[in-house]
Order: sequence, then C-alpha cells, then structure tokens
Amino acid sequence: MNQNYNKIPLAIVTGAASGLGFELALLLARDGYELILIDVNSEKLQQAKEKIEARYATQVQLLHKDLSKPKVAESIVQSIEDRAIDVLVNNAGFGIYGSFHETDWERQAAMLHLHVITTTHLTKLILKKMVARGKGKILNMSSLAAFQPGPLMSLYYASKAYILSFSEAIANELKGTGVTVTCLCPGQTKTCFQEVVSNGCSASDNKIKFNIACPKQVAAYGYEAMKKGKIVAIPGNINKLLSKLPRLVPRRTATAVIRRIQEKNRAV
Ligand SMILES: NC(=O)c1ccc[n+]([C@@H]2O[C@H](COP(=O)([O-])OP(=O)(O)OC[C@H]3O[C@@H](n4cnc5c(N)ncnc54)[C@H](OP(=O)(O)O)[C@@H]3O)[C@@H](O)[C@H]2O)c1
Repeated sequence: MNQNYNKIPLAIVTGAASGLGFELALLLARDGYELILIDVNSEKLQQAKEKIEARYATQVQLLHKDLSKPKVAESIVQSIEDRAIDVLVNNAGFGIYGSFHETDWERQAAMLHLHVITTTHLTKLILKKMVARGKGKILNMSSLAAFQPGPLMSLYYASKAYILSFSEAIANELKGTGVTVTCLCPGQTKTCFQEVVSNGCSASDNKIKFNIACPKQVAAYGYEAMKKGKIVAIPGNINKLLSKLPRLVPRRTATAVIRRIQEKNRAV
C-alpha cells in the first residue's frame, strides 16, 4: 500500500471531463491533491486525466458514472472505500431549453436527478465523514439562474435555486465543525454547456455574447472562495449586480425579463 495513503489530500470532482469541472480539477492537482474524477463521458475523462498528469505529478483515478441514475452516490462511496475525502466538488450539470410541457421528460428527470438527488446524496454520504474528522470542503455548482425563476429553462433555474438554498442552509448548520460549504454561482461561461442546452430543440448556440466569462477565471474564483470557506461565490461584478436585481423589482417582472433574455439568447 502507498505509504502516503492518508497524508496526501484527496478531492472528488464530478463532471470533470470538461469545462469548469476540468479547470477545478487542474487547480486541485496544482495544489497537491490526489483526484477522483467522475464523468459520464469516458473518452473525455481519459483525456482530462492525461492532460492533468502531463502537468502535475499527482494520482488521478477515474470513475465513469452517469450521475443521473438511481443509487449512483452509494456506488461512488463504495468505489472509494474508506478513503478520507478532503474536498468534494459537485459540479456536473446540464441545461434544457424549451417550454416545460414540450420538452422531453426523460431528459428533464435525468437533470433533476443529477442536480438535486445526486448532489444531495453524495454530499450527505461524504459530509458525515468530514464532520467526524472535523475537516473538509464542499463546492457545489449552482448558477446565476438560482436567483429567480427562468421561463424556457424552468427546471434548470429551479434546480439551481435548490442547490443554492441547500448549500446555504447546510453551510449554516456546519458552523464550528471544521467543514465548509461553498456555492458557486457563475453567469454565462464559455464551455460546452451552451451546446448541450440547445441539444434536442430548434434553438442554436447562445446569441447574447455579452458578459461571457472564461472557465479558467470562473473556476479560479470559485476555488479561492472554497478555500476561504465563503458561502456564496458570484464571479464578476456584473453578475453580482444581476443577482441582486430580482430583489429590487417585482418577482413577476424579473421572471418576464428572464423570458425575454432566454428568447433572445436562443432564437433560431
Ligand atoms: N457554462 C455556463 O454558462 C454555466 C453557468 C452557470 C453554471 N454552470 C454550471 O457549471 C457546471 C459545469 O458545466 P460546464 O459549463 O463546465 O459545462 P460542460 O463543459 O458541459 O461540463 C459538464 C460536464 O458534466 C458532465 N455531465 C453531464 N451530465 C452528466 C451526468 N449525468 N453524469 C456525469 N457527468 C455528467 C458532462 O459530460 P458530457 O460532455 O458528456 O455531457 C461534462 O463533462 C454545470 O453544473 C452547469 O450547470 C455553467
């Protein structure tokens, strides 16, 4: 057995094959963490491992999992056995564009399972051991979408609001335990996310090219916030302002504005 088995910090990152998850994995590798990277896309996951190992001398273990499936959190915890987790990054996610009644239920249910059930269950299973050890950090990926309802992406916005509310509540419960929870709420970021959102509907790539962040910068911002134990992290001054707008105007107005933005952003 590796002599350093319990000495090298260990991090789990979900959705680590691309975008923000990959950038967060790189930052953890830079800081000396061993990694367990999880993604549904095994080919991209293998490429991510090779890129990380080419830059940093760290151990990278891959778990090929569809996190939208039942009991997947339990199977992850079984795979890692009794290894102590220092950092958990619940990042995997995707969006679905279209009217709620017209979009595909199988895909909607998968997204809800991924964002709500798997994020919650994996957090619960790993958090218990972190609290028992008196240390650990959790980074949950929400979105600017969390701050108001989102017509035409209703379940995405609602599920990201769940992640924000859940994270803030347990962060409060965990005060004094040595474990922190940070919720990262990015605005539009240049990753594969936008292509996936448009998948299966007539909309094409996003049309609003204003205020699109670079994934490296968003990940670095979230990572620093997690290290400091900040509870809510919103990268970018414009996004900080946008997150407050729903409190300054009637909720109905904020909802109508989001509908206009979504229609404009994904118009064919
Ligand atoms: N990009 C943005 O504008 C933006 C803004 C706010 C929040 N976010 C959030 O940031 C997180 C990361 O997204 P990203 O922008 O980095 O997009 P991304 O490049 O598409 O990365 C998401 C990763 O998660 C994986 N994934 C999707 N469904 C999965 C499942 N069921 N099981 C396991 N892995 C799965 C994807 O695999 P595949 O490639 O095979 O789908 C992909 O590798 C998401 O939670 C997203 O909601 C993104």
